[in-house]
Amino acid sequence: MSRPARPPVPPVAEALAEGLDEAMIGRVVARFYDLARADPVIGPLFRAHVPDAKWATHVARVEDFWCSALLGTRAYDGRPMQRHLGIAGLEDAQFRRWLALFRHTATTLCPPKTAELLIGRSERIAEAFRVNIAMHSRDGITFPRPLTREPWP
Ligand code: HEM
Repeated sequence: MSRPARPPVPPVAEALAEGLDEAMIGRVVARFYDLARADPVIGPLFRAHVPDAKWATHVARVEDFWCSALLGTRAYDGRPMQRHLGIAGLEDAQFRRWLALFRHTATTLCPPKTAELLIGRSERIAEAFRVNIAMHSRDGITFPRPLTREPWP
């Protein structure tokens, strides 16, 4: 069975040449999680798992995650895969929405190669989460078809 083709992900060097830095990642993460928390599809999951008092810590950890993954400038020592296994109701509709919102945020706030890099990484991480969630489900090992892109809003 053929899988939908994914656009290639630009190398980090191309994003750095466009100005990718910690401040840009900070702006993307802050804007994305503002939108995500208020969103009708994924907001309820965040509100159920991250109390108001812990929201700033959550956003800072995700910023560390991206800075660590793309710039190597911060030590992120979390286990994001495990965290997402414990979230009931995390299904394809939620992933599609998360990715659409993230794509919108990156495209709005970043130069083109940087946006493509962030979007490509987010989609690959989301697919890895989905496979892992499926493997831990009652259905046993399955490889879900990659998600198609959903427009936002
Ligand atoms: C519908 C999709 C998603 C939802 C609803 C969601 C929700 C959440 C929630 C509720 C947490 C906090 C968990 C906890 O502290 O117990 C979390 C943590 C996190 N998420 Fe997601 N997530 C989604 C997809 C993603 C994707 C695609 C990425 C990466 C590209 C991501 C990256 C992270 C990271 C880095 C953390 C921090 C883990 C830590 O504390 O070390 N999430 N997410």
